[in-house]
Amino acid sequence: MRSHLSDERTKLLKQLSDEELDLFTLTGGIDMETADQMRENVIGITKMPLGVAENFIINGNPALIPIATEERSVIMQASIGAGLIPEGFTAYTSGNIMLGQIQVLEVPDMDAAEEAVLAEKAALLVDANTLSRSRKAVDLQIKRLDTAVGEMLIVEIFTDVRDSMGANLIDSMCELLAPTIARITGGRTLLRILSNLATRRVVTVAARVPAENLGSDVIDDIIAADAFAWADPYRAATSNKGIMNGVIGVLLATSNDTRAVEAGAHSYASITGTYRPLTKWRKADNGDLMGTLAMPMGVATVGGVIQSHELAKVVLRLMNVETARELAIIAGSVGLACNLGALYSMVTEGIKSIQD
Ligand code: MEV
Repeated sequence: MRSHLSDERTKLLKQLSDEELDLFTLTGGIDMETADQMRENVIGITKMPLGVAENFIINGNPALIPIATEERSVIMQASIGAGLIPEGFTAYTSGNIMLGQIQVLEVPDMDAAEEAVLAEKAALLVDANTLSRSRKAVDLQIKRLDTAVGEMLIVEIFTDVRDSMGANLIDSMCELLAPTIARITGGRTLLRILSNLATRRVVTVAARVPAENLGSDVIDDIIAADAFAWADPYRAATSNKGIMNGVIGVLLATSNDTRAVEAGAHSYASITGTYRPLTKWRKADNGDLMGTLAMPMGVATVGGVIQSHELAKVVLRLMNVETARELAIIAGSVGLACNLGALYSMVTEGIKSIQD
C-alpha cells in the first residue's frame, strides 16, 4: 500500500513546476509578510503534512486529492475507502445558498411586525442586493422563537453566495438591513450574523461497493457497525470525527474555513434532536454495500484567504476545481471514503493495523 501511495505522490509532484514544488516542500504557501497582512498579531507560520489520497473517481473523473493532516492513517483510510469503490462516487450539491439571521427583541406586536416585514420583503432584498453585483439575496423568511428571555422574531435572509464562503457578505447584508427591520417591527435588533447550519448548501454523495470486493460477512459487519452509530451518539461522534478527518484535510489544503464546516456538520448531524452519523450504509438487493453521506458544505474557491494563499491555489488547480460546488463534492466524497476505510479496517484487522 505504501509503495503504491508513493507512485501517486510522484505522479502528483510531476505536475508541479519548480516554483510550485518549492511552495509545497519549503514555504508552505505563505510567507511572513503575507501572514502578517492576513491576520492580527502574527508571530509565525505553522505547517502540517500535506499528502495525497489515491483511488478516487468522482462523478466519473479520476482524481488525486491533496489532504492536509497531522494524523497518521487519515490519507490511508481515504485511499482504502476509495479503492473499494471501483465505479467511484456520485455526488451533487443542493446549491450555494447561505443564510443570515437578524434577531429582533422587544417587538410590541408580533403579528403586525411579521406582516410588516413580509410586506417590505421585496424592498429589503433590493437593499441587500446593493452590496454585491453577482451574489444575490434570493429570499427572506421570518420565524418566532420562544426563548429563555421571552419571544423574539428572527428575520432570515437567504443569499446565493456562489463560489465564496459568504460570511462577510451575509454579515454585511444583515447589518445593512437591521435598522430598517427595527423601524418596521418597532423592535430592537441585536445579532446580525451568518448561520453555519447551511441546510441549503448540502453535499450528497453515494457509493457502491461490489459484494465481491468485501464478501458478505464484512458487508454485514460494516452494516452492524453503522447500526451502532445510528443507535448511539457516543459512537456517532467518533464515526463523524472519522468523516471530518478527510473533509477537514481537504479544506485545510485549500485554505477554507474548517470551523464553519465543522459547526455545520455537527449541527446538521443533530438536526432531528438526536445526534446521528452523517453517513448511512445498507445492503442492496444484489448484496452490494451502498453508502451515502449528506452534510452542509459551506466552502469557497474564491475570497481573500484563498487568493493570498499560493499553495491553496495550486491545490485547487491540481484537483481541477474552479467552483465551490466542485470542491464540496470532493470534500464530501473524501468524507465518505474515510468513513468506509475506517469501518473496513475496524471490522477486519482493527484500526491499529493501519495506524502503526
Ligand atoms: C480516527 O481518527 C477515526 C476513527 O475513529 C473513525 C471511526 O471510528 O469511524 C477510526
